[in-house]
Amino acid sequence: MPVLAPVELLTPRLKLRWMTQADVDAHFALFSDPQVTRYLGRPAWTERAQAVEAIDKVLAHYASGEAMRLGVELRATGSLIGDAGLWRIDDANRRCDVGYSLARAHWGRGYAPEALEALLAYGFDTLGLNRIEADIDPHNTGSQRVLERLGFRKEGSMPERWIVDGVSADTAFYGLLRSYWEPRKQPAL
Ligand SMILES: CC(C)(COP(=O)(O)OP(=O)(O)OC[C@H]1O[C@@H](n2cnc3c(N)ncnc32)[C@H](O)[C@@H]1OP(=O)(O)O)[C@@H](O)C(=O)NCCC(=O)NCCS
Repeated sequence: MPVLAPVELLTPRLKLRWMTQADVDAHFALFSDPQVTRYLGRPAWTERAQAVEAIDKVLAHYASGEAMRLGVELRATGSLIGDAGLWRIDDANRRCDVGYSLARAHWGRGYAPEALEALLAYGFDTLGLNRIEADIDPHNTGSQRVLERLGFRKEGSMPERWIVDGVSADTAFYGLLRSYWEPRKQPAL
């Protein structure tokens, strides 16, 4: 596992930064909204304690190097509007998964691609990753649009991969290789 150092990534409108227990209320507000968790393969939270436990896990993962889940803050207000992270960081194979969620009030303004652009650059340039994967619900067209905008390619489908509240859900599997990412960094001729 890589050693993760505290991270702060700035984009024009956003700051991505390490989370702390001070983020519990905003984190709970995010994942207690069933519209946000609709395609995440788990039910919406009902207890604040679930957010406390989740952030404990985030902090443990910073220490182990397994995952780096960052809070997404609006620079204009300093409020936490979501999260974006690299998961299952596999040092030997230089790959990981990506995940992201924003509070519903902030959808449709291009914040997710803006945050991910910075996070993916960190993954490739600083962590030295070669491949970043995303497992999404094929009905989650918003997420699909975000991935395609960033250069991810659809690699396959896996039927009935998840069972949420007794209902099965499929996976659309996406990958972004360093070799797709690098040319996007070249300035236009
Ligand atoms: C998926 C998500 C991260 C997209 O973030 P975003 O910052 O809204 O992304 P964008 O502004 O670039 O919009 C992307 C697409 O979302 C959809 N979208 C935008 N506003 C929307 C809204 N109010 N309601 C539903 N979908 C919307 C559109 O399809 C849009 O594509 P378009 O720009 O080509 O029309 C966000 O909707 C979200 O947090 N959803 C809940 C959690 C989730 O599903 N995470 C992904 C798990 S794989």
